[in-house]
Amino acid sequence: MANKYKIFTFGCQMNVHDSEVIAGLLRQLGYEEADEPEDASLLIFNTCCVRENPERKIFGRVGSLRELKEENPDLIIAICGCMVQQPGQLERIRQELPHVNLVFGTHNIHRLPELLSQIQDTGERLFEVWDTEGDIVEGLPASRLDGLKAFVNIIYGCTNFCTYCIVPYVRGRERSRQPEAIRREIEDLAARGYKEVTLLGQNVNAYGKDLDEDITFADLLRILDGTSGIDRIRFTTSHPRDMSDELIDAMADLPTVCEHLHLPLQAGSNRILEKMNRGYTKEQYLDLVGRIREVIPHIALTSDLIVGFPGETEEDFEETLQVVEEIQLDSAFTFIFSPRPGTIAAKMENQVPEEVKKERIYRLIELQNRISLQRNRALVGSIQEVLVEGPSQTDPDKYMGRTRGNKLIIFAGPAERGRLMRVRITEAKTWSLHGELMP
Ligand code: SAM
Ligand code: SF4
Ligand code: F3S
Repeated sequence: MANKYKIFTFGCQMNVHDSEVIAGLLRQLGYEEADEPEDASLLIFNTCCVRENPERKIFGRVGSLRELKEENPDLIIAICGCMVQQPGQLERIRQELPHVNLVFGTHNIHRLPELLSQIQDTGERLFEVWDTEGDIVEGLPASRLDGLKAFVNIIYGCTNFCTYCIVPYVRGRERSRQPEAIRREIEDLAARGYKEVTLLGQNVNAYGKDLDEDITFADLLRILDGTSGIDRIRFTTSHPRDMSDELIDAMADLPTVCEHLHLPLQAGSNRILEKMNRGYTKEQYLDLVGRIREVIPHIALTSDLIVGFPGETEEDFEETLQVVEEIQLDSAFTFIFSPRPGTIAAKMENQVPEEVKKERIYRLIELQNRISLQRNRALVGSIQEVLVEGPSQTDPDKYMGRTRGNKLIIFAGPAERGRLMRVRITEAKTWSLHGELMP
C-alpha cells in the first residue's frame, strides 16, 4: 500500500504554494494524499508566525497528536514553514512536542526527500533549518490544489523590514526568479489547461531589482501577457513604494492583466506610517490611488490595515478611518497589531491595550463593510466578465466564478468550468455579487 500524507497549511498564499510544492515532491516519491490524518503515515504542518494566534494554534494542534503517534509509532509528524525559522522555536519544539520527528525550514523544502529517507534509515528525529537562503531551486514539482487557477512565485523573501513584520526574518532577502524560468512555468501551466495565474511575492512589484538583468515587474508582465491559453494574470502583494507609473500603464495596456490591485496601506497616520517604516505618507498613498484610478477607472482596490500599532492614539486611528472613507476600498483585511519577537515594534513603548485594539478593529471593520457593500452595489446593472469555476458551494444549483476585479459572483447556468462568460449583476452583498448570464 502506498504511503499517505496530509498537509495542514497556515498563513498566506506563499505557504499555500509551498505546500503544493511539498505535495509535488511527495507524489514523486510515490506518496498519495490521505483523506483523514488517521490514514496518513506522514503529517506535515506548514506554519505561519506573522501574528501570535496561528502560532498558538499550531502548538495546540500538534500537541494533541501525541496519542495518535503512540498508537502508530511509525507515523512521521513534521513541522515546516515560517514559524520554525524563528530563534528559539526549534528548542521549544524539541521540548514541548517530543512526538514531532521532522522539522525543516522555508529555505530547504527541496531537501524533503533526502530528510525523509534519513529518518526512515535512522529512525531518529531530524531538525534541519537553514538560517540563510541558498540559491533559488528551479524545477521542483508542484501538485496544485486547483486545475484552473495557479499560484506562481516570482520573487522570494522581503527586504523591506516594516518594523512590525517578521517576514523578512523568516523568508530571507528578496530574490527574483529568472524571467525565462517564470515564462516556461506559465507556458507549461497553460499547456495543462490552466486559465489564470497569480504571480506571488511578499513585495511582488519589487521584482527584478535584485537581478543583474535590467528588468522591471512591468517588463515581466509584458513578457507574460499573451501567453497562449492564459486568460488572466493577477499578482499580489504590491508595495505602494514600488508602484511605478510604468507598472500602472502596463496594467492598463495588457489585456490579460486583471483590474485588481492589492495595495496595503496599513495605517492612515503619517506618524504611525513612519514608525512602521512603510516608506510613504498618507498623501503619497492618496496621490498614488488617484493616479491609478485615472488610468484604470474600474480598478478594484483592496488593502491590508493594522490597528493598535504601538503609540497609536485615538487621533491616529481616526486618520486611518478618514483615509479608508476617502479611498473607498473594495475590501480590506484588517489586523490587530501583534508584537512579534525580534521585530523593532515589539520593543516599542506605549503598546496599545487589547481592549482598545479590539474596539478599534470593530469600528474599522464596520466602516469597511459598509464601503464594500456600497462599492458592490455600484456594480448592479453592469456586465462583468467571469471565469467560471464550477458549482457554487453555498448554492449548488448555481455557478460561481470571479470577476476581473476578483469579486465572487454567483449566477444561474448553464455554464462550464474554465470558460469566460458575461454576467449581468442583479444583486450585491458585502462579500459577493449575484447575477444572470448574458446570451
Ligand atoms: N508583503 C505584504 C505587505 O507588504 O503588505 C504582506 C505581508 S503579511 C504576510 C500580510 C499582512 O499581515 C500585512 O500586510 C500586515 O497588514 C499584516 N501583519 C504583518 N505583521 C503583522 C503584525 N505583527 N501584527 C498584525 N498584522 C501584521
Ligand atoms: Fe512584511 Fe513589510 Fe515585507 Fe510586507 S513589505 S512582508 S509587511 S516587511
Ligand atoms: Fe505567515 Fe510566512 Fe506568509 S509568516 S503570512 S506564512 S510568509
